[in-house]
Amino acid sequence: MRSLENLLRKNREWAAQRKREDPQYFEKMRFQQNPEYLWIGCSDSRVPANEIVGLQPGELFVHRNVANVVVPSDLNCLSSITYAVNELHVKHVIVCGHYGCGGVKAALDDADVGLTENWLMHIREAHEAHFEEIEAIASYAEKLKRLCEVNVLEQVKNVSRLPVVKQAWKAKRDLTVHGWIYALEEGLIHDLHLKASNVEEAMAMRRLGKEKFRSRGD
Ligand code: CO
Repeated sequence: MRSLENLLRKNREWAAQRKREDPQYFEKMRFQQNPEYLWIGCSDSRVPANEIVGLQPGELFVHRNVANVVVPSDLNCLSSITYAVNELHVKHVIVCGHYGCGGVKAALDDADVGLTENWLMHIREAHEAHFEEIEAIASYAEKLKRLCEVNVLEQVKNVSRLPVVKQAWKAKRDLTVHGWIYALEEGLIHDLHLKASNVEEAMAMRRLGKEKFRSRGD
């Protein structure tokens, strides 16, 4: 059986390095979880949340799943969002997708992926909601790119519809939902300019999606 000793060794080296830089690092960390941001991203190993935005432990609350999907019936995701908003009082919820997402690709290809199929259903719904626009794109690569973006749009909309988010806005709390996308090949995040800080902006954002769809579709 292959041992994971290499990972444990790397962990010891990492901890030692942190302590060398700041002898109080872990002491402080024990009492410090004060993130301003909730990151909802893909589980993809190439998109390590903290690393790509240069944030330290304690600075980013993270929820990841296949294709960064926000489903109102997913207790795991809802618990993360509720905890981040109500207990940690994050100021920003960032839904960050990425180009070349395997989950989005499987949904676009209508591939048979066993149990994962139940999960991909949510991305297929995003595809169907923007079907004409996406199908009008000739290149497969561009189609996939657009579906990755559209998936972020739909998930940002889903976040903005959640009761926990609406309640925070009703209470005039400082909370903004954002839609971003990460390009693996260049290591850069692109702002999709999907942003809502209150119910009105959330409504406008939902309409923006539909307008875009209409302008490219019928
Ligand atoms: Co992905």
